[in-house]
Amino acid sequence: MKITVVGTGYVGLVTGACLAEMGNHVLCLDLDARKIEMLNAGGIPIHEPGLEEVVQRNAAAKRLEFTTDVDRAVAHGTLQFIAVGTPPDEDGSADLQYVVAAARAIGERMTDYKVVIDKSTVPVGTSDKVRAAIDAALAARGVTLEFAVVSNPEFLKEGAAVADFMRPDRVVIGADDERAILLMRSLYAPYVRNRDRVLVMDLKSAEFTKYAANSMLATRISFMNELSRVAEAVGADIELVRQGIGSDPRIGTQFLYAGCGYGGSCFPKDVKALIRSASEAGQELELLSAVESVNERQKQVLGDKIIARFGADLSGRRFALWGLAFKPGTDDMREAPSRVLIERLTAAGAEVTAYDPVAMAEARRAMPGQAGLRYADSAVAALEGADALVIVTEWKEFRSPDFDAIRSTLRTPLVFDGRNLFEPALMKQLGIEYHAIGRPS
Ligand code: UGA
Repeated sequence: MKITVVGTGYVGLVTGACLAEMGNHVLCLDLDARKIEMLNAGGIPIHEPGLEEVVQRNAAAKRLEFTTDVDRAVAHGTLQFIAVGTPPDEDGSADLQYVVAAARAIGERMTDYKVVIDKSTVPVGTSDKVRAAIDAALAARGVTLEFAVVSNPEFLKEGAAVADFMRPDRVVIGADDERAILLMRSLYAPYVRNRDRVLVMDLKSAEFTKYAANSMLATRISFMNELSRVAEAVGADIELVRQGIGSDPRIGTQFLYAGCGYGGSCFPKDVKALIRSASEAGQELELLSAVESVNERQKQVLGDKIIARFGADLSGRRFALWGLAFKPGTDDMREAPSRVLIERLTAAGAEVTAYDPVAMAEARRAMPGQAGLRYADSAVAALEGADALVIVTEWKEFRSPDFDAIRSTLRTPLVFDGRNLFEPALMKQLGIEYHAIGRPS
């Protein structure tokens, strides 16, 4: 099939590359000429395991092309995916100007039947706005053409996006046009072994599904984070509790890890946006508001523990920080708990020496000129002269560290672990003072 993808951000690029991988001819459009130049030269602007190979392989086979030419992009695909950004407005609602502009651009140029597919995460009802923008553009041209609007939310996880796209656990298609449903079903058939995994529903339910999924996952995390505080207070171990409840198939094992708060470009934004759209619809989401505030509080938990241990004035103290990205496998610094911690520690007078296997360049961009923050070349180098090690992101290389090096390089053998990577009993045996989340120290 001939497909156009508007927007070569994270979602657009993964979608375009993975659709080309199955033999489709994909043209990706972006107005950022530098980005398109980079992509045409075989580079990719984000860190995502396996993506570069898929992009290069399909670009070499001429199934995947990149352009800034809007006319060409609209002419190319019968399927037009919109995968542009929906940044949060000041009030937390999603800013739809780029989605609507993309729809308008399609309406201004199309000459035959198009299926316009929303891949960006958009509030319930956005499909009506997309349809209206295309209708208005067609009316302004004085032409009548058939088109369909489809909602096809993505469920990609950063760090595993290519695998998630190639083997989805479900594909949600919101549509009311039979021809479009047929095209969408055949587009995704090669990706799903079981046809039942393609869920066709009305547009609003599809749009809602995306927010409901992310909000449910965020709720599980905040629930466990809140319980981790209680576990500490009563002397229970949240890790054992996690295993104890997760073995019930009705609860399931995933997304029950207590930590130092969820971050990233999705959970914080989507929880906010759902609260906002609910309130516009006259509904108050008490539970989700609590999910959000529990998370804000949880991002402070490492800072709280450090201050409880060292006192509020941290001047003259130095902390080694392992992990900057909001989670492993990505260089994404958006809403990362590390940022909150760095601001808190440096504001209290401490110095922070950070190490992250991939996110240091991105961290420099995200926190330009941050006073008191330095970067180390390796995990062990970050430990030199530090009063304690603080673990914020659970990169694999931090899971089995050289404990001897930790003990001998730190000024005091002291670890604050925001991701519960080690057994408290082992740390005790090694003579390392260990503060985890919801576990006995
Ligand atoms: C999330 C969803 O998992 C995807 O299904 C969805 O498609 C995506 O948002 C999106 O809307 O685009 P992502 O933000 O990439 O994916 O990252 P997650 O793996 O979900 O992790 C989010 C945050 O939750 C991270 O900060 C992680 O450290 C934290 N987390 C996750 C926990 O604190 N505990 C857990 O048990 C799991």
